This record gives sequence, C-alpha cells and structure tokens, in this order.
Amino acid sequence: MAYELIEVRTEAGKVGVITLNRPKQLNALNNQLMDELGQAMKGFDADPAIGCMVITGSEKAFAAGADIGAMATYTFADVYKGDYITRNWETIRSVRKPVIAAVSGFALGGGCELAMMCDFIIAADNAKFGQPEIKLGIIPGAGGTQRLPRAVGKAKAMDMALTGRMMDAAEAERAGLVSRVVPLDKLMEETLGAALQICEYSQIAVLAAKESVNRAFEGSLSDGVMFERRMFHALFATQDQKEGMDAFVNKRKPAFRHE
Ligand code: CAA
Repeated sequence: MAYELIEVRTEAGKVGVITLNRPKQLNALNNQLMDELGQAMKGFDADPAIGCMVITGSEKAFAAGADIGAMATYTFADVYKGDYITRNWETIRSVRKPVIAAVSGFALGGGCELAMMCDFIIAADNAKFGQPEIKLGIIPGAGGTQRLPRAVGKAKAMDMALTGRMMDAAEAERAGLVSRVVPLDKLMEETLGAALQICEYSQIAVLAAKESVNRAFEGSLSDGVMFERRMFHALFATQDQKEGMDAFVNKRKPAFRHE
C-alpha cells in the first residue's frame, strides 16, 4: 500500500517507525490517516523481523487531534453509523508488539489519545498534552476520559477534560503520563535506543510482559496477579528462558531465538 499521510520505515531492520505526515494540519487525524496507520501497524505486527514499533510526528505536533474541519458538519447519524473519527482505533489496540510514542509538540485530543494507546510515551521537552474537546462542544471520543484518569489520576484528568488546558512535558512526567522527557534533538535517538533494546530480548517474554501490564488496567488485582503468574510459569516452556538463564549463569550475552 502506498501511504500519503504517514511515512513508514524500519530502523536496523528491527524497529518499525511510523511518522505521521500531515504537517499543514499539524497531523490532524482523519479517516485516511487512521486507515494508513492501522494498515502499517498490522504490517509490522505480522513481520517476524520487527520487534517493536515507534509512532512519531513532527517537531511542532505529534497530532493536534481529530480533523475538526472534516468533523464540523457531521451529524449524529453520520458518526454513529459510519463509526467516523474513532474507526480503526481498535486495530491499533490489537497490535501485540510493543509500540512507543515519541511525542514532540502538540498531542491534543485524538493526538493525546493516540499517544496514550501506545504502550509508553517518550516526550520531548517541548511536548504539550491536552484533551481540549470541551472547547468544541464535545468530549474525547477515542479513550481520553478513560485512559487519562488511569494514567494521571482523577483530579488531573478532570481538570484537563473540563478546562481543556494543556499539560507540558515536565508536568506530564510528574503525573506519570510519560515515561521519560528528553531534549527535543535527542527524542528519536532515545526512543530508537529503547526500541532496539526491546528487540534484543525474547519476543515471547516481551509479548507476555505487554499483555500482563495491560491486564493491570482491565480487571481486578487478584485476576491480574494470577494472569501474570501463569504467564511467568508459561515462559519456562520457552527456549529463550533456558538461553537467558544459562547466559547469565555462564556470564555471556544471551542470543534469543524467539522460541
Ligand atoms: N483539525 C484540523 N485542522 C487542524 C487541527 C485539527 N485538530 N489542529 C490544527 N489544525 C490546522 C489549523 O486549522 C491550521 O490550518 P490553516 O493553516 O489552514 O489555518 C493549521 O493546522 C495550524 O494550526 P494553527 O494556526 O491553529 O496553529 P497554532 O500554532 O496557532 O495553534 C494548536 C496550534 C493549539 C494545536 C491549535 O491548532 C489548536 O487548538 N488545534 C485544535 C486542537 C483540538 O481542539 N484538538 C481536538 C480535536 S477533537 C478530537 O480530537 C476528538 C477525539 O477525541 C477523537
């Protein structure tokens, strides 16, 4: 598939890098962009050479939200029947390999929601996060009212959803929305470094870790702990567990074969 609104490349043959590319609209997310993004992510997820994905935008904007121009004249019937704006978001959620958001500039509305759908966010020091939908007479529609409180707690999530104010990178790090803040000119270096590090590990263990952490957000603590325990037990059936532990015991570097 030829992409028009995203750029797709691989780093070291192992990391799938997707750059949102609608610069004039600050990477506002329309159906075409979301279709392309879903397609690219499914492709990387199915590619055995790829161990991790990165989604990024431009220096000025990761994404400034859903495309307001496209939405402006939609009716309830349009959006409900056509599943506009939010269609294809479940595709992103269903990706099993880790996805890192490398965020610089604005991550607003659907842009903030997209970043939060990634497994973790590394932010440049110029990043700004917000759910400003309230200013448009709507509310977040792609998980913002659900993922933001889980990430930053009720007080800040309510503050952001009700006032529409932005959170800068330092506040986002303090609040737990992002895992690291780095200087803008180091954003891709740091993110690709993290992605390549993940690719070094047993892919089976990586998938199990992602699934297990996600369980923490879906159910009770006791169910989550039991899920983790069973996953932990299951990893003893892999060759990678034998390799990882033998390498440690014999003071050598492990060579995982993802089996
Ligand atoms: N949709 C469509 N176009 C957008 C856009 C969006 N979400 N955000 C910015 N643009 C466009 C602007 O219209 C402008 O286009 P023109 O040059 O043709 O006029 C261009 O991008 C540059 O934007 P600004 O001139 O406004 O740039 P700025 O630096 O002055 O301000 C900004 C930047 C604060 C991000 C501002 O553009 C802004 O507030 N954007 C809207 C943010 C927003 O409300 N996002 C939520 C959308 S709703 C949503 O996402 C629903 C959901 O949950 C799924």
